[in-house]
Amino acid sequence: MGILEVKGVNKRFGGLQALGDVNLSVKENSVHAIIGPNGAGKSTLLNCLVGKLIPDTGSVMFDGQSVLGRAPFEINQMGISRVFQTPEIFGELTVMENMMIPIFAKRDGAFRMHAYETVQNEKQIVEAAEEMLEEMNMADKRDMNSASLSRGDKRRLEIGMCLSQQPRLLLLDEPTAGMARADTNNTIDLLKQIRDERDITIAIIEHDMHVVFSLADRITVLAQGTPLVEDSPENIRGNPKVREAYLGESA
Ligand SMILES: Nc1ncnc2c1ncn2[C@@H]1O[C@H](COP(=O)(O)OP(=O)(O)OP(=O)(O)O)[C@@H](O)[C@H]1O
Ligand SMILES: [Mg+2]
Repeated sequence: MGILEVKGVNKRFGGLQALGDVNLSVKENSVHAIIGPNGAGKSTLLNCLVGKLIPDTGSVMFDGQSVLGRAPFEINQMGISRVFQTPEIFGELTVMENMMIPIFAKRDGAFRMHAYETVQNEKQIVEAAEEMLEEMNMADKRDMNSASLSRGDKRRLEIGMCLSQQPRLLLLDEPTAGMARADTNNTIDLLKQIRDERDITIAIIEHDMHVVFSLADRITVLAQGTPLVEDSPENIRGNPKVREAYLGESA
């Protein structure tokens, strides 16, 4: 039994079946990659995992509890954090200010901050944010405007913001999309470090096969909303069905 169990998930958007009978089991402390061509339903599936979309049928259980119908802060409190396909940081805030936001959120359960508590715990929050910036190797960028960060550093900041909530499951939607090769390699190294040093399960959606094969323990291939194959990276590499799913794309 995995820490994340998806059973019989279906999701339609009008006449389009975005997900058709998806079953997925993600083992605790593993890196599980979900790959597939554009429009395969990867982001839709991820949205179902964080309660953002409610499937028409089926269940999504994290550590024995259903995630369906829960508010985002409840999902965070269950131990799930997510990096979106487009970086979601506040460009007008500094790196440090961004890093402090989820730490507030974790403490209060939501973005409700009480002035008294804020003053009481400010030192702890600053310390926790500084510690995470250290871990992300971004301490020197503390006071930079976040909008001026490179794409790789924006992702790094965002991943740090997720980790500051001490998740047990980290979900990443194409973390290296639009990155230069050097930034991609830095992101791979960062995720390897996280995988090796933390008690964490990672589910990653990714187009870049170099990233997938560098990190994943298991790979699920989605095609037209349905899992086509689930296997080890070694077996996925030569699987003709996978090539077929990607026909017209470089696999
Ligand atoms: N809110 C929505 N309303 C209607 N159709 C949607 C909605 N969200 C996604 N879709 C459709 O569902 C299908 C799956 O989309 P999804 O974004 O999950 O694919 P994806 O695998 O993440 O693709 P990509 O690799 O391009 O990110 C697509 O055909 C998409 O157009
Ligand atoms: Mg997507």
